[in-house]
Amino acid sequence: RKEQAEPGLLQGKKVVVTSGGTIERIDPVRYITNDSSGKMGFAIAKAAREMGADVRLIYGRTDVAPPAGVDAEPVQSAEEMYRAVLKHWESSDLVIKAAAVADYRPAETASSKIKKKGDTMTLELVKTVDILEELGKSKTHQFLIGFAAETHDVETYAKDKLRRKNADLIVANDVTAEGAGFRSDTNIVQVFDEAGLVEQMPVMSKDDIARRLLAIAAGRMKEAGN
Ligand code: CTP
Ligand code: CA
Repeated sequence: RKEQAEPGLLQGKKVVVTSGGTIERIDPVRYITNDSSGKMGFAIAKAAREMGADVRLIYGRTDVAPPAGVDAEPVQSAEEMYRAVLKHWESSDLVIKAAAVADYRPAETASSKIKKKGDTMTLELVKTVDILEELGKSKTHQFLIGFAAETHDVETYAKDKLRRKNADLIVANDVTAEGAGFRSDTNIVQVFDEAGLVEQMPVMSKDDIARRLLAIAAGRMKEAGN
């Protein structure tokens, strides 16, 4: 299905998009990351720009370059991404958390390369800040959209995340489905709000999903008078 970017739909709105995977350092030459390509978040940033928004893109490790014409800030860790988002939080109208943020990071980052020693080694990990949850706690006028990448029980987990993180919408996808997931140029998503399923999108390009998602968000922001 093709979606047109309706020009002017987000005119005058400040939109913050996070994208890509975070990098959590073990030592100067090693880190923990994930399979996020950054494509979904970049498509959203580009579509928001086309719709007239003032876009701030905050991105971690990605497979592709960020779109031209948007104000883009590279970050590494979850902590760094959190601080970058917070700088724009109060002045933003719409925040979309498409980034795959690491859930755990090494308890300590070694300042020099860790040398090989015994036959086993244990890395202690500690929980990272949940950016979406923190934003949800301090939400005032902002419209907040989160993502949920799942391999099973998509709907149950998506609804749970929506409530737990106080998001206005959750975009869920089954990353194991054909034509969906991390590195793909297409995706199959379901959008949920507090009341349940808002929209089930068929397999669509990430650009088309971005336009459709932003149209839904713009409509709801207008309804809410924001
Ligand atoms: N998220 C976040 N900060 C984290 C972890 C997740 O902001 N430390 C955000 C993601 O950007 C996404 C949403 O929360 O918008 C859901 O992420 P997901 O990894 O699916 O959920 P988790 O709550 O981390 O649960 P789990 O990984 O166990 O499924
Ligand atoms: Ca997670």
